Amino acid sequence: MRILILGGDGYLGWPTAMALAAEGHEVLTIDNYLRRLLAERTRSQALMRNPDLQERAEIFAAAGGPKIRVAIGDCANYLFLSRVVAEFQPEAAIHYAEQPSAPYSMIGFDEARLTLNNNLNTTFNLIWAVLERAPDCHIVKLGTMGEYGTPKIDIEEGWIEIEHAGRKDKFLFPRQAGSLYHTTKVLDTDLLWFYVRSSGLRVTDLMQGPVYGLSTAETDLDKRLMPNFHYDDIFGTVVNRFLVQAIAGIPLTVYGKGGQTRGYLNLRDTLQCVRLAIQNPVKRGELRILNQFTETLSVNDIALRVRAAAARLDLEVRVDHVANPRKEAEDHYYNPKNSGLLELGLKPSLMTEDVLTAMLRELVPYRHEIDLKKVRPRVSWSGGAR
Ligand SMILES: NC(=O)c1ccc[n+]([C@@H]2O[C@H](COP(=O)([O-])OP(=O)(O)OC[C@H]3O[C@@H](n4cnc5c(N)ncnc54)[C@H](O)[C@@H]3O)[C@@H](O)[C@H]2O)c1
Repeated sequence: MRILILGGDGYLGWPTAMALAAEGHEVLTIDNYLRRLLAERTRSQALMRNPDLQERAEIFAAAGGPKIRVAIGDCANYLFLSRVVAEFQPEAAIHYAEQPSAPYSMIGFDEARLTLNNNLNTTFNLIWAVLERAPDCHIVKLGTMGEYGTPKIDIEEGWIEIEHAGRKDKFLFPRQAGSLYHTTKVLDTDLLWFYVRSSGLRVTDLMQGPVYGLSTAETDLDKRLMPNFHYDDIFGTVVNRFLVQAIAGIPLTVYGKGGQTRGYLNLRDTLQCVRLAIQNPVKRGELRILNQFTETLSVNDIALRVRAAAARLDLEVRVDHVANPRKEAEDHYYNPKNSGLLELGLKPSLMTEDVLTAMLRELVPYRHEIDLKKVRPRVSWSGGAR
């Protein structure tokens, strides 16, 4: 298939590009390096240097991988995106090109506006580029489990049947996000649903939980092919932060009580999920929503697992509970469904001590690069940046 990847320089985009190219698909990736720019601006640079997208494609080809085409440009620019779509005629388009950090979106007005404009415009432009230039293309959009928030009822896969005054109908499951970033994902879903209804777009919206992991079959070819690894409080996820804190010998910073529970998945499983979505396209006029995670864990669970994995490498780990910079429930009901991808064939690999130990081993050689100023919370939901 001809597959277009928006956000191909990113943590998920680059491994996806390599994996799909290795399976024989024709892959074209787009990126404008927004992630790198925002990481520089907020002093949140990745732990290892990642070659730029063109260099990565060359390193992959030199290691025996197939050709990955690269287009550097802004998906929020409609003329650019529609031209690429018109020329490439993708059969599937995977949309990763968004500003993905909740803390970044909560720093202040400029960061909130950038997140809102960028995320809605990339989605809106992709919708129109597909409608006008490649109407049969299947859009696979990355949403987030954070769209649902933490309601006191079970979370369904995207939809809910409601009975009201004796009549029934099916609606999008209620969404109540906990950050401006997550709210842009809610708005994306609404935009996609509108154009599915009005114009017969075909869309899979993947409600993904936080992803962890550094390696895939293709990154094993050459270390320089590893995806970006951010460990700071703005662009790093909790798993990355804890692993780096364990290596640096400083306490793990659990926000508040640590009962915040979310659905997690391994990077290798993200690749499986996206592949399954592409291999099983939906028909025109359908919006399929799948909850993309393999296990639910609390922040305390993750801290304990990282501590146990670190002990295997003789690293002693302390856990600190720090004031929570976010507005979120720290002890709550959480029961999301995730049967859709399992029914399509997903074989989960879970966050075992072995997996975490392997990640720690990958990271130990970079111990001297760790900047300790980056790992304490710098952004507060009530007052922007500290
Ligand atoms: N990584 C996770 O744990 C996770 C979890 C749930 C959802 N997601 C979603 O998956 C997607 C990818 O996440 P990621 O972790 O790979 O983030 P990332 O920031 O590493 O990757 C996103 C890429 O898109 C690019 N980009 C952003 N705006 C662009 C634009 N206007 N034009 C061209 N390129 C642009 C960035 O430069 C970056 O390389 C995001 O939409 C994110 O919200 C990620």
